Amino acid sequence: MSFIKETEEYLINLLSRLGYELDNVVLECSSRRDLGEFQINCAMSLAKKYGKNPREIAQTIVDNLDDRFDNVNIAGPGFINVSINKNKLLEKMNNSINNFDELIDKQEKKKIIIDYGGANAAKALHVGHMRSANIGESLKRLAIALGNDVIGDVHLGDLGRQSGMVISEIKKRKPNLCYFDPNYKGEYPKLEVTPEELAIYYPTASAAAKEDPERMEEVRQITAYVDEGKEPYFSMWKDIVEVSGNEIKKVYDYLNCNFELWEGELSSLQYIEPTLKVLEPYMYESEGAKVIDVVKEDDKVEIPPLIVIKNDGASIYATRDLATIYSRVTKYDPKEIWYVVDSRQSLYFEQVFRASYKSKLVKEDCVLNHYGFGTMNGKDGKPFKTRDGGVLELNTLLNLVKEELTKRMNKYDNDEEKNEILDKLTVATVKYADLSPSRTTDYIFDIEKFCSFEGKTGPYILYTMVRINSILNKSNIDRVEIKDIYSDTERDIYIKLLELSRILNKSYSEKTLSYICEFLFDLCSLFNKFYGETNIINETDEDKKNTYLSMLKLIYNTCEKLLDILAIKIPNKM
Ligand code: ARG
Repeated sequence: MSFIKETEEYLINLLSRLGYELDNVVLECSSRRDLGEFQINCAMSLAKKYGKNPREIAQTIVDNLDDRFDNVNIAGPGFINVSINKNKLLEKMNNSINNFDELIDKQEKKKIIIDYGGANAAKALHVGHMRSANIGESLKRLAIALGNDVIGDVHLGDLGRQSGMVISEIKKRKPNLCYFDPNYKGEYPKLEVTPEELAIYYPTASAAAKEDPERMEEVRQITAYVDEGKEPYFSMWKDIVEVSGNEIKKVYDYLNCNFELWEGELSSLQYIEPTLKVLEPYMYESEGAKVIDVVKEDDKVEIPPLIVIKNDGASIYATRDLATIYSRVTKYDPKEIWYVVDSRQSLYFEQVFRASYKSKLVKEDCVLNHYGFGTMNGKDGKPFKTRDGGVLELNTLLNLVKEELTKRMNKYDNDEEKNEILDKLTVATVKYADLSPSRTTDYIFDIEKFCSFEGKTGPYILYTMVRINSILNKSNIDRVEIKDIYSDTERDIYIKLLELSRILNKSYSEKTLSYICEFLFDLCSLFNKFYGETNIINETDEDKKNTYLSMLKLIYNTCEKLLDILAIKIPNKM
């Protein structure tokens, strides 16, 4: 448990012994270090509650505090400023060197399903999918680090117009395949298609269909066949999804995104029937379609009814999300389901959630939440585009970053090693850039800035880690022990580490990784300051040297855990 939480619990008990009841006492991290490292502000609210003088209450509290604090003083109307006692601080830091849990607060375990990734089969991943993957994966890892039981589901977009597009393109290029022969009587073989072909088919067909209404009609027809499960189209599409899914997985692997479930729209089809049974009493017909009203009395904007079944009887995106909710609830009984999907889908999710609660597809106490995110923009402030105006594919972005980093890298004799380091740096660069802004804001992807080895960047963080690691490797520690504090910078580092629990709790409750990114930068900067001030390797006082190295271990281990939450891997050298 963190020092902050431990102390807050202690304070609640202390207050209760002194005759004051409060549910919640906050130990604030002070921004005025000259006054104290922490502040206890409950005297004012207690004074109101008990009709007493706040300074008097503050004095009573101060008189009864145990020895965990030094430099205790009361300021203004009753602010209690304190600093942590040095021995207490040393004890906490020593316990934390090899035990991250000493610095954080675990939650009561809940089952959570996170829906993130959301790549579309047979189409290239674009940068929006990267945001979902990065944020979703990290929120998952954060929730796990805090003690929850979490399942990540990629929820592939593996039904939709792209099925008709790709199959119509195959038909155009290979009209003699048995699938397109109406007189064919044999069994249909597995469709042979390569990832390289798939990469061309969708864009080609999409461009052609735009120009040619007849072609578009064919696409529509085939899409409908696939949606209805009509053969051989349905099986052809499943074969295409398999090939495409393997390619998608490679990209997610590169980004260190690991999904427990590879479900999607296609696999949800089997749950549509039982789902519609649950929804039936709440649906009505409107212009041939089946819809559910989802308005609430206090709505400030109009929320249209959710279409569940189209007027031609076909299922749509929403039907599949509802069926997916049905399957998640029946199979896993989660306490919460989070959707890490582009903010532009927020109205849609509001409709789906309301329909789910209204029809009792989910229990009242199951929490459904959409955690949307802002857009990644180019330097012009508009959604990132390629030079010729197309949507920027994720692979293109990753290559651009890797190229830029290559220019800045040292010379390496070993190409394989160099490439491995570059890949880790590339991932760190895009992730740190993508996770640093608060989740909901749009941000500008500035490749040169993000690839820099200085400032708030992935390369800066990794460079610092490699530096710490190399010092640790060069010197052996006799005894892992932080014996004393020899400089203000060391103390600043330790106090920073005490704040970590706050940072993680805030990140979790606001579902943003920005605080963790900021914390990593602050901690790395403090380390680099210390490194500039101190000759670690040549220190002759053994106690000092051991202490320095032990502190480095503490910093390294903590950052390693935090980088793991961000799904960033650390290279051995750079
Ligand atoms: N495939 C969708 C898209 O590209 C995202 C899926 C999000 N998840 C969901 N359950 N609807 O927009």
